[in-house]
Amino acid sequence: MHINGKEFRTIWFKNNVVKIIDQTKLPYQFIIKDLKTVKDSIYSIKNMEVRGAPLIGATAAYGLVLAIIEKNDQSFLKRASEDLIKSRPTAINLKWAVNRMMKKLSGVNSSEILKIAIGEANTICEEDINFCKKIGLNGLKIIEEISKKKKDTVNVLTHCNAGWLATIDWGTATSPIYHAHKKGIKVHVWVDETRPRNQGANLTSYELNEEGIPNTIIADNTGGILMQRGEVDVCIVGTDRTIATGDVTNKIGTYLKALAAKDNNIPFYVALPSSTIDWETTNFKNIPIEERNSEELSHIEGLDENNNLKKVLIYPKKSKAMNLAFDVTPAKYVTGLITEKGICEASSEGLKKLFK
Ligand code: MRU
Repeated sequence: MHINGKEFRTIWFKNNVVKIIDQTKLPYQFIIKDLKTVKDSIYSIKNMEVRGAPLIGATAAYGLVLAIIEKNDQSFLKRASEDLIKSRPTAINLKWAVNRMMKKLSGVNSSEILKIAIGEANTICEEDINFCKKIGLNGLKIIEEISKKKKDTVNVLTHCNAGWLATIDWGTATSPIYHAHKKGIKVHVWVDETRPRNQGANLTSYELNEEGIPNTIIADNTGGILMQRGEVDVCIVGTDRTIATGDVTNKIGTYLKALAAKDNNIPFYVALPSSTIDWETTNFKNIPIEERNSEELSHIEGLDENNNLKKVLIYPKKSKAMNLAFDVTPAKYVTGLITEKGICEASSEGLKKLFK
């Protein structure tokens, strides 16, 4: 997709260096950062310079490439893979990508390992782009149908950033929107601000602006009244881990949006590539939910009057804060899962029909 009219991907590999767009600086500064070591990759994932389930997976895959460049040694590579998996707990794509890389590299001799690792990390990225494009074409049918019935602009509500910045290109939740826009269908997006890190305001609105898609940022609590007023036609969100039962883990606050959508008879779709399916987990209580530093709540960053990035405290100094980063939306509140293979019911039967 585009930034300032120029095409970008979120991650690429050039001259033995991994290039990323530092998302902690968006929307104020556009900085391309070099990752040169596996430690750089871990830092970048932990501190959310890269974020979003598919992009975290891709960064971990290239992290293993960097580990091999640093030290072509099996025990170093194994430790790197373990450390990468630990860098963020909820998005299953991280473990999926590391395990896929390690399987591909197992038994490969040291003279060939780097070439094979680069090839596999590149394939993970190309596959993600292809899957996200297909998610878009499958989800486009939903938007098209609403548009035909309504004969007016389709209002989509989304939460967090499941856009191209969270993947390699296209995004998951945004891909149907981008495809609809390309087809000339009028769409408008309600963008949940997504406190505490404001991925909606800082990233989703930013990338929609760059693609010329009308959007309006709303406080996270506004979705309910907009749904009651008939101003939301469909909700489409992403996911960090969809378990075998069809229950969906996504950015904190997603569950409340799904409840409000159910109460107002508004379709609530979740868009995901198959790399986000955790086939092994069948009880949502076993999903590790990341708890992040409470400073992300108590402090806020923005531009000061001199256009300098500044972080300020917004809570009473003595107050405690708690920062759970994800929640789980039970499958019964999900209208359907939009995947690269088609749209299915959010249930083990639905998933199995498409994927097994
Ligand atoms: O904490 P983040 O910003 O990594 O959370 C991202 C999300 O919750 C996205 O919705 C999810 O990863 C899907 S990305 C296509």
